[in-house]
Amino acid sequence: MKLASRVASLQPSITLSITSKAKALKQQGVDIVSFGAGEPDFDTPDVIKEAAKKALDAGFTKYTPTAGIPELKKGIVEKLKKDNGLDYKETEILVSSGAKHSCANIVLTLCDRGDDLLIPAPYWVSYPEMARLAEANPVIIPTVEENNFLLTAAELEKSITPKSRLLILNSPSNPTGMMYDKKSLEEIAQVVLKHDLYVMSDEIYEKIVFDGKEHVSIASLGNEIKERTIVVNGFSKSYSMTGWRLGYAAGPEAIIKAANRMQDHTTSGANSITQKAGVEALALNEQVMDDMRKTFQKRRDLIVKRLNEMPGVSCLNPEGAFYVFPNISGLGMDSLTLADKLLDEAQVAVVPGVAFGSDANIRMSYATSEENITEGLNRLEQFINKK
Ligand SMILES: Cc1ncc(COP(=O)(O)O)c(C=O)c1O
Repeated sequence: MKLASRVASLQPSITLSITSKAKALKQQGVDIVSFGAGEPDFDTPDVIKEAAKKALDAGFTKYTPTAGIPELKKGIVEKLKKDNGLDYKETEILVSSGAKHSCANIVLTLCDRGDDLLIPAPYWVSYPEMARLAEANPVIIPTVEENNFLLTAAELEKSITPKSRLLILNSPSNPTGMMYDKKSLEEIAQVVLKHDLYVMSDEIYEKIVFDGKEHVSIASLGNEIKERTIVVNGFSKSYSMTGWRLGYAAGPEAIIKAANRMQDHTTSGANSITQKAGVEALALNEQVMDDMRKTFQKRRDLIVKRLNEMPGVSCLNPEGAFYVFPNISGLGMDSLTLADKLLDEAQVAVVPGVAFGSDANIRMSYATSEENITEGLNRLEQFINKK
């Protein structure tokens, strides 16, 4: 069948194919330990659920304004001020059905056919596909593990051509868990401004940072760079709301308005009930997030320590998110072969790094219990020792 070329060029998700194989094995009764999850293993906090029930009972079940209900946009404006030191007007906010939707809106709004979209690797799997959907070129900029997989200003500068349009930053990062500090963001911002680029700053893991470190938004570094940045954030990871589908973009009014027009004719506004729940999430006591952070940090400590004790494996210490991205090149096989073998021979599900643009690594999510983590690591260790 003839399909539109923009769809035909999309790559199937390797992440999804491994997780669906693991799921199928689980259904057959095989005892799989999965490090594949891309979502927190905690339930959505009760106060958020109550807000949704209240909205439903009150009949808040109709279309909402495309850009989001005013009280949610007000809450987002306050959040951006309080957490990130950013001043936005409500007209500079577009609420969407998840941060993924926000990212796609922004890429489609800013990139024309043939434009270069700059993506540091390792990258979140959907960014290159969003570029393809926009008929833009995904330009992958490799980073090095010695620099914690973070893009340097020099690496960025080298990748720029007259067609360069938009740079994607994701901090803390999926899949590496690494985070940019203020100084490196300032250096990157200078290159962005020098070449009139835009930045889409995906800050979805912002609340999950460890060791007392602070997340910095590149948009907060000055007015000039703020005018060239679109901040994307959402509720999935911070508030355990992956299935609710709520995210947002904040940026210059002309860009937000254009993205709003596109959303007008594609999805319209986000789910009305979810938006009411989102208002409550933003008002949530930080203690709930603190508890989640502490749990993730304890698991990170456990997994990083154990991985570094295994022959042929080395693992950086992530500063945020809930993933580790160990280097497995010492095991003598590529990431897809290892992921396949681990699933078949050790009943452990991991995601091959090649899906994120780095074949020397695998991604392991620790959004699962300490018990599972320990069992999975025991199996991994046995697998390595048997080799
Ligand atoms: C880096 C990154 N950005 C965006 C998203 C999408 O989040 P949402 O559930 O809000 O669409 C994810 C989800 O895995 C992610 O890892």
